[in-house]
Amino acid sequence: MTVVAIDGPAGSGKSSVSKGAAVELDYAYLDTGAAYRALAWFCLENGVDTLGPSEIIEALDDFDYEIGTDPEQYFVRVGGEDVVEAIREPRVTAVVSSVARVPEVRSFLTELFRTIIRTTEKPGIIVEGRDITTVVVPDAEVRILLTASEEARMARRSAELSTESAAITAQQLSSRDAQDSRVVDFMNAADGVVTVDSTELDFEQTVSAVVELVRDAA
Ligand code: CDP
Ligand code: CDP
Repeated sequence: MTVVAIDGPAGSGKSSVSKGAAVELDYAYLDTGAAYRALAWFCLENGVDTLGPSEIIEALDDFDYEIGTDPEQYFVRVGGEDVVEAIREPRVTAVVSSVARVPEVRSFLTELFRTIIRTTEKPGIIVEGRDITTVVVPDAEVRILLTASEEARMARRSAELSTESAAITAQQLSSRDAQDSRVVDFMNAADGVVTVDSTELDFEQTVSAVVELVRDAA
């Protein structure tokens, strides 16, 4: 089985490109950011609004989470409830970094990701996040850092939103990256990690670049 690990900052194209490449390769796809978001959502739903580390760690005991790994039938459920859209809400984005910096959360989710990877039935899996190339599967067959200039990343995120929320989003995006960077380094490629800079590439070209790296390694 081929494991493809992809890290990068917000808006670099990780989720969309990983999904597109997984479809083309007939691989499974794992969005690890969705797991961190699902836990943040679960904490908010359960009134852990101060989001102190001990409350978050306690919430892990009741966190019943399921994620789909079929790139064409992607789902995220918490306690059986579909949360695909809810986990993208701004209130979740605003607190997800505070949840993700708790070491117990990281080790809990890392184990879960490794189990999902181990039990994949497809010929390969593309796993994307912030610490996949360095912590979750540092021995992955293909390790990629997907980057894009800050300007391009902001423009991509803004294009998905109304103009009124675009300015707020740009500010939130860079402060979230700054906060996340204090926990894991996803701005610089670790040894053996190939950088794919998508600033000048469109979506299809970025998918092709990833697919080519995977085919070269197989
Ligand atoms: O899609 P976007 O770039 O907005 O973020 P995401 O991939 O959904 O990740 C949401 C948050 O989860 C990040 O801002 C990180 O705080 C956290 N995360 C992490 O700590 N480690 C990962 N492997 C993936 C996400
Ligand atoms: O997961 P991440 O935050 O890294 O980014 P994403 O949500 O996959 O991508 C953000 C947006 O950029 C999506 O609408 C993609 O279609 C778009 N994109 C693009 O315009 N050009 C690329 N080369 C890659 C992604």
